[in-house]
Amino acid sequence: MSEYPSWQYNEMKQIGKDYGSLAEVEAYDARHGKFRNVEKENNDILESLRVEAGHVIIEFGPGTGAFVRQASRRCAHVYAVDVSQTMLEYAKKKAAEAGITNITYCHGGFLTYAHTAEPVDAIVTNTAFHHLPDFWKGIALQRMNGMLKTGGQFYLSDVIFEQKNVRPNIEQFMAKLERAAGPDIRKDVEAHIRQEYSTYDWILDGLLERAGFQIVSKTMHEGVLGRYLCRKTADCAGGAGL
Ligand SMILES: C[S@@+](CC[C@H](N)C(=O)[O-])C[C@H]1O[C@@H](n2cnc3c(N)ncnc32)[C@H](O)[C@@H]1O
Repeated sequence: MSEYPSWQYNEMKQIGKDYGSLAEVEAYDARHGKFRNVEKENNDILESLRVEAGHVIIEFGPGTGAFVRQASRRCAHVYAVDVSQTMLEYAKKKAAEAGITNITYCHGGFLTYAHTAEPVDAIVTNTAFHHLPDFWKGIALQRMNGMLKTGGQFYLSDVIFEQKNVRPNIEQFMAKLERAAGPDIRKDVEAHIRQEYSTYDWILDGLLERAGFQIVSKTMHEGVLGRYLCRKTADCAGGAGL
């Protein structure tokens, strides 16, 4: 029997934005810097996780690596796991320039990364989970549960929808981003909603709980951005993935 079933989702295939493209990767930080304060975002994540010097963290979908660099200064080791080799190379170069040596870069993803070291203290993913359709989000959560220590924390931030007022919320969100970053960002958000797999918060609530996570805090912003801090309370009853 092969390692994965023939119906395994191909997470290596880029959907929506092509993060395998060097031009896309090189433009990423400048584009996101127009509407995000990434350093503050990352500090807030690290604060909410109460990261300690001895902790080990995995980030799924680190992109250009801003979070893993900030995290690496506050903990023992970080694993940066991304399906885009181009993103990984870019992030690795930036960390080397900053003299950072405690990050391991892994080409893989939510569904394929095999964590062979000890279970970790925290797993973080920011603006990446929407790359998986909902069934596969469930499998990914089971897998991540298996990589965490009992009591370990899972932080999820992404475009996530509240069901109420979804259309006006999305329109307001796009208008706000367009004011901050110009008309191209509107096209990006439209493509995200059309082609990628951002889902409802109530679906994520259920997926998280069924994968053995307790939702410690959940905040929804303007009906379209969700942040979850979760704790692994149990091994997932359905096992660690497929
Ligand atoms: C929008 S970027 C987010 C980057 C960064 N976390 C941030 O907050 O700016 C999404 C990243 O997730 C990666 N990605 C897409 N699908 C993935 C998967 N199945 N597993 C891990 N990473 C994935 C992409 O290659 C890309 O680097």
